[in-house]
Order: sequence, then C-alpha cells, then structure tokens
Amino acid sequence: MPKRNKNIEKVEEIINDSAAPEDEEGADDLSLLPGVGPATAEKLRENGFTDLMAIAVTSPSNLSEMCSIGEGTAAKIISSARKLADVGNFLTGVEVMERRKSVEKLTTSSTAFDELLGGGVETQAITEVYGEFGSGKTQIAHQLAVNCTLKKGKGGFNSHVVIIDTENTFRPERIAQMAEGQGVKPTVVMKSIHVGRAYNSHHQMLLVDKAGELAREFPVKLLIVDSLTAHFRAEYMGRGALAGRQQKLNKHIHELQKFADKFNCAVLVTNQVMSRPDVFFGDPTKPIGGHILGHASTFRIYLRKSKGDRRIARLVDSPCLPEAEAVLTIVTDGVRD
Ligand code: GTP
Ligand code: MG
Repeated sequence: MPKRNKNIEKVEEIINDSAAPEDEEGADDLSLLPGVGPATAEKLRENGFTDLMAIAVTSPSNLSEMCSIGEGTAAKIISSARKLADVGNFLTGVEVMERRKSVEKLTTSSTAFDELLGGGVETQAITEVYGEFGSGKTQIAHQLAVNCTLKKGKGGFNSHVVIIDTENTFRPERIAQMAEGQGVKPTVVMKSIHVGRAYNSHHQMLLVDKAGELAREFPVKLLIVDSLTAHFRAEYMGRGALAGRQQKLNKHIHELQKFADKFNCAVLVTNQVMSRPDVFFGDPTKPIGGHILGHASTFRIYLRKSKGDRRIARLVDSPCLPEAEAVLTIVTDGVRD
C-alpha cells in the first residue's frame, strides 16, 4: 500500500514540476512587450495568446475583441510582438536552396515506402503518419528510431533519437527485435534512444524543450511524438473546447517545426483518425487536429491495414511529390517491403 502511494506522489511531483515552468515562461514571453502590464498580460493569456508568435500573427480587431482592449492598444501590442517574435525574414531562392542542401533522409527499411517519400523521412520537416488503431504507426516509429542510430551507409543518421511517448506504447523488446533485424546490437541501439513519457498535453509540450536540452548534448536527428493528439483529444472534449485545443496544438506544432529547423532534425508525429464523428465532426477517416495540422506537417501519410501483415501507405500531402501509395509489411524484423 505505501509503495503505491509513493508512486502516485512521484507522478504528481513530475506533473507539478513540469507545470511550474510554463507559467514562468509565459510570463517571461509576454512581459517582454513594452507597455503590457500584468493585468493585460493575464487577459492575453486567458484568451490563448500565450506566446509572442500567437500575438504577432493576429489582427488588431481580433485581439481587441477577444481581450476587450482598445484597438489602438491592440495594434501597438501586435507591432511590438512582431518585432520580438521572429516572424520570419524573406530568403532568396539561392538561400532556400542552400538550406535544402542540408536536408537528410532517413530510411524506413521499405524501399517502396522510401520512394513514396522521395528517399526517406526528411530532416527540417514534420512527417505525420495517421491511421486507425493497429494500422502500424507505432511500429513505423520504432523502426525509424532504430534506423536513426544506424550508420549513414545503411540509410541511418548515426545519431540519437528522442521519443515523446504519450500512450505508453514504447517497447524496448520491439527495438531489440528490429535492431537484430538490421544486424546491430540491441544494447548499442538502445543507448541512443531517449524516451520521455508524457503524462498530459502540457507535459508533452514541455518535453519538446527538454528534447532541446538533450540535442545540445548529443546529436539528435529524429524526434518522435507518438501520439501527437491523444492527450489533446482526451483533455479538450466537445465542440466548446475545440478552439482552445487547436490553439495549443498549433503552438506545439510550431515548436516541433522550430526544433526540426534548428537541429536539422526529422520530426515524426503519429495521429489517429477520428472514430467518433459525433464528437469530432467531419469525415470519420480524417485525422484529428483538422486543417491546422494539415498545413503544418510537411508530409502526411495515411496508413491503412490490408491483408495479413500488409499495410498501405498513402502520401496525402507533400510540397513536391505526387499523391501515391506504397505497400509495406510489418514483420518480426520490423518494417519491410
Ligand atoms: P494505435 O496506437 O492503437 O492507434 O495503433 P498503431 O497504429 O500505433 O498500431 P501499432 O503500430 O501498435 O501496430 C500494431 C500492429 O503491428 C499489430 O496489430 C501487429 O499487426 C503489428 N505488430 C506489432 N508488433 C509486432 C511484432 O512483434 N511482430 C509482427 N509481425 N507484427 C507486429
Ligand atoms: Mg500506436
């Protein structure tokens, strides 16, 4: 009995520990705005404007209406936020091309799947795999984690992986099987995989910051969030909570993209398809998160079950590749053609 209580305390301690910094961080961010006192900052935060970028990209009339402040004040706040937040400078085509040159591609262990993606999972991008329960999203995540640790000659990145596990589905045993499938020692692979269990959406977002700390210590070239949306879905129920959920998700995705750019890292997120159209309106095979997620992820793959261990991956959205499909299998060794 006392042991169980200790465990619960431990979990609460972790959650509380992670709760504190966000508040402070939020205060840091908004307190940088000249002329914004604590009361206005609080109003902004209450209405979902928790970071400078969210303020920078809104309009004065919207901010004024949502936070009940004068439009002139709103315009001033937005203008300061734009200066402080890195809204993004224009790059010439040559500069974009230079940046693209540093993009690296990670093998999925299926030639057909790699081809579908134009050579593998890219760095500096978010790749989203969505599909129903049991479609193999977590299996693909495990395979990519193993592959990231492989030498470059074997299609890997020869570097570390961070996994943000929200559903407690990370299995070292499965990593071991897949490592053996690649002819490498499981213990060697395991040393380069860092797993953080996220207890709620708030904690999940905080773990991205923690991943940044790790990335300064080791070369991290793959960040996995499996599942991206499960906590958000559970915590923000019903239509009324939709706006808040999207705002939070939007912020989270923005942080992930920043991570991908900063560390020239591949980001893989998994997402379930909606099985309750009465709660989440729209097409029941649409992924959770709606259009915000759709525009934010660079590659979207719809995964569905086929006969036996076969899976069909469909590339749904990509900046420069055609919509197409690939057939892959999930076997003991991992993902294969
Ligand atoms: P949710 O997270 O529930 O939405 O599902 P998911 O898409 O993440 O599914 P997951 O990746 O967990 O896939 C589960 C399926 O992978 C199982 O139904 C099996 O078909 C397959 N699978 C999992 N482990 C093994 C294994 O060790 N060997 C083989 N051959 N197949 C496996
Ligand atoms: Mg899963």
